[in-house]
Parts: sequence; structure tokens; C-alpha cells
Amino acid sequence: TVMRKSTQEVIFTTTNLIFSQLYLELTTSIPTMNIYGFGERLYKYQLDAGTYTIFPRDEPAITEDGTAGHNTYGEQTSYLVREKSGLFHMNFLKNVNPKEIVLTSGTVKYKVVGGIFDFHIFLGSNPEEAVQQYQQYVGAWTVPPFWSLGYHQSRWGYKSFRQFEKVLSNYDKYDIPLDVIWNDIDYMIQYTPFALDTYNFPPNEMNRLLKQYKKRWVPIIDAGIGTKRIKENIAYPRAQELGILLKNAKGEEFRGSVWPGDSRFPDFFHPKAEQFWHEMLEHLDKQLSFDGIWLDMNEVANFCDGECGVGPSQKYKNLPFTPGNTNLERKTISFDAVHYGGIEEFYAHSLFGLLEQKATYNYLKKKTPLPFILTRANMFGTGKYAAHWFGDTTSGWTEMRYTIGELLNYNMWGIPHSGADICGFMKDTTPELCARWTQLGVFYPFSRNHNELTARD
Ligand code: NOJ
Repeated sequence: TVMRKSTQEVIFTTTNLIFSQLYLELTTSIPTMNIYGFGERLYKYQLDAGTYTIFPRDEPAITEDGTAGHNTYGEQTSYLVREKSGLFHMNFLKNVNPKEIVLTSGTVKYKVVGGIFDFHIFLGSNPEEAVQQYQQYVGAWTVPPFWSLGYHQSRWGYKSFRQFEKVLSNYDKYDIPLDVIWNDIDYMIQYTPFALDTYNFPPNEMNRLLKQYKKRWVPIIDAGIGTKRIKENIAYPRAQELGILLKNAKGEEFRGSVWPGDSRFPDFFHPKAEQFWHEMLEHLDKQLSFDGIWLDMNEVANFCDGECGVGPSQKYKNLPFTPGNTNLERKTISFDAVHYGGIEEFYAHSLFGLLEQKATYNYLKKKTPLPFILTRANMFGTGKYAAHWFGDTTSGWTEMRYTIGELLNYNMWGIPHSGADICGFMKDTTPELCARWTQLGVFYPFSRNHNELTARD
């Protein structure tokens, strides 16, 4: 039992401790139900009793309801709680294996599949003090460039520079201040990362527009490297040459599928992966200079469940417990995929995003003192490198309301530069919802209007 000396209040207990190779369980008591944390999920800020799954995955349009399986893109394993005396503390479990939290009145039960129990407790006299210590411990947060705190416009589906121009001129025409314009995957040839479509997005036209309208530009980069043998695809051959691709259990290139179709994944654990990533970013920047980078599909997302043509892992198919009651390898890579140094995916799932953010940050840092990166995948420590948006939020009133809870969570977890897609991403928005969401969205530290391919402008 951990007790706060000054008040004699119990902070942490370890009743019901189970510790085995693939299953860890621990129940701690909590002083009050003024408890906040455990993510990522689209939900209100203060948690009710319920079951909360933590395992980053690409799952669009999902809101929490306090039952298992509503987890989304991030690995956030801490909570803030008010003690009876009115003091606060934050509790952090440093573990990246799949897990579920069962919250009842007065207890938090951790049910973790693999890894270790490594708890850290930060005592404060108020919430700020507890949160500040936690944030310092996980690496604090990167200071964003001033322009990135402005208003951003994005959508999936700007098919060419002409459409881009239309958007820019409309902002001008209606005198709406805009700082940054984005490109989704449409700017690449067949959605192939680092292969700029110079026919639809000629660099001279794009540069002319960005200059004329005085806008910053941020393009998307997806995690999956397409294998198409087209001359613009320099990433796949270079990744093979450097030997930095993620492997399967047999030691072959791990086969996935993302927007470009058949894909491979860089293994950011590899000592040469950062060199590869920097070369690719440099290649894109040389053609069309960017101001920041948007990292997407990095949980990591995969359109096959496990390895394409093979399926989920054999080794981890009979787990003693399945957080979320669903196939954990759905739409992601297999647990027995092998990273450099023999590290299995099972023990490293959330680290793909973090290492990708770090590699991107180190590249941008060479060019600018204040890099700007937006990432979908996130874990504790992400704030040191990147901002975060809440992924594929449905255009709905409940969803809009829940973005406030998520925003407060990310402020607490040390990724204060965050926000949701203004007006909502999935499904058509309505004029009233969009107006209200814009009013709310100006208070998002990261304030961007973004939209799904088939939804109305
Ligand atoms: C998923 C992202 O969450 C979304 O914002 C993006 O528009 C699509 N991928 C297409 O790139």
C-alpha cells in the first residue's frame, strides 16, 4: 500500500496481484470517483464505472460507452484522481501491451496481456502539480510554431491544384482567415508515399498558389510503403537496399496492405530507418517544400488482419485474455512480426508511431527550430514530438461534445496541441452542426477543418 503521509490517504494498493508471462492483473483502490484518463477514446472527461480497453488501432467513427472494445488510436495509460482531502495525484503505468481497465466505484483493475508492471505516481497539491510532474517524466511537449496555432483547412479529395486553388480563393472571397492548407493522400501517385503526382499537383503551380495566398502547406505521409514498380516510387527499392523493412516470423518482408495496395512497413527500430526516412522526406521537400508533416495510418494500420495471405500470428492466437473482446490483430500487423533486434510486435505495438514521430521530428529539426508534426497514433511521450488530432470523428452532436472530453485528456497527457476534425469527418455534416463545431473549434489548440472523401464540403 502506498499512503500519502500528510493525510494518511491510500494512494495505491496491490490486492489481487497476478503476474505471469502473458497475463498480469492488479487491483488498486482509488480514493474518489473524480477520475480522468485511460485512452484513447472519444468520451466525456470524467470517467464512470465501466470497462475501458487500451490498444491503439485504426477504427473510425467510434465513441466510448463504458463497455469493452471502444479503444482508438492512442496508448495513454495514466489517470488523474482527486483524493478525499482535495489533493490530487496522477498514476502512470508504463506498459505498451494490450490491456483493459475495469473501473468500479473505488477500484481500478488492470488486466494486461504481457509485459511488465511499472507504475509511477505523481503527487500534487492540485491537479496542475500532479500533471506537470507526469508531463516532465514523459518528456514534456514540443513548442509549436506560431503559424500552426492558426486555422487549418484540409479534406480528403482535393483532386488537383485547381481544386486547391478554388478553396484558397473562396477563403479569400469570404474573408475567412486561413493560415494553413493541407493535402491528403490525393497528392501522391496511386497513394504511394513520397511519390508526388506532378501532373495533378505541378510544383510550380502549387508554389505559385502558396505564395500568392500566403499559406503554409502540410502534406500527409502514410506509414505503409507501397511496392508498386513505378519510377516515382523510390521508397520501396531504397528501403530494401537499406534492409530496414519490418520482417515476419520467417525473416521475410512482412506483407501488408494500405492505400497504395500491397505494402511494407519501415521498421523504425532499425538503426538505418531514420536515414531512410530522412532521405524520403528530403526527396519530397526538394520537389515541393512543406512546412510540417501529417503522419497517418501509424497505429500501424493494415487492411489485412495480420499478414496479408497469412493472417494473424499463430504464436499469440490463444491469449489468456483478449482486451476489447475482439481480434486484436484486426486491421493491424501480426503480433509475431519481428522488429530489429528480435523485438516482437506484441511487445512493441505502440512504439511504431512514437519512433516514426521521433524520426520525422529529427528531420524537421534540421530545417527549423520548431517542427510541426500532426500524428494520429500516439502514446505517452508523443507530446515531445508531435500534435494529435482525434482521427475519424463522425459528424454528430454527441461526437462533437465528446471532443471536449478528449481535448482535456490530451492536455493532461502532455499533447496539448490537439483537436478534432472541425464539422466532423465521417458522414455529411449539416450547416448548423458545422457552424457550432467551428465555434467550438476555434478553441481547439489544433484547429483544423477536415473531411472524408465522400462527405459534402
Ligand atoms: C485516415 C485519416 O484518419 C483521415 O484523416 C484521412 O483523411 C484518411 N485516412 C485518408 O488519408
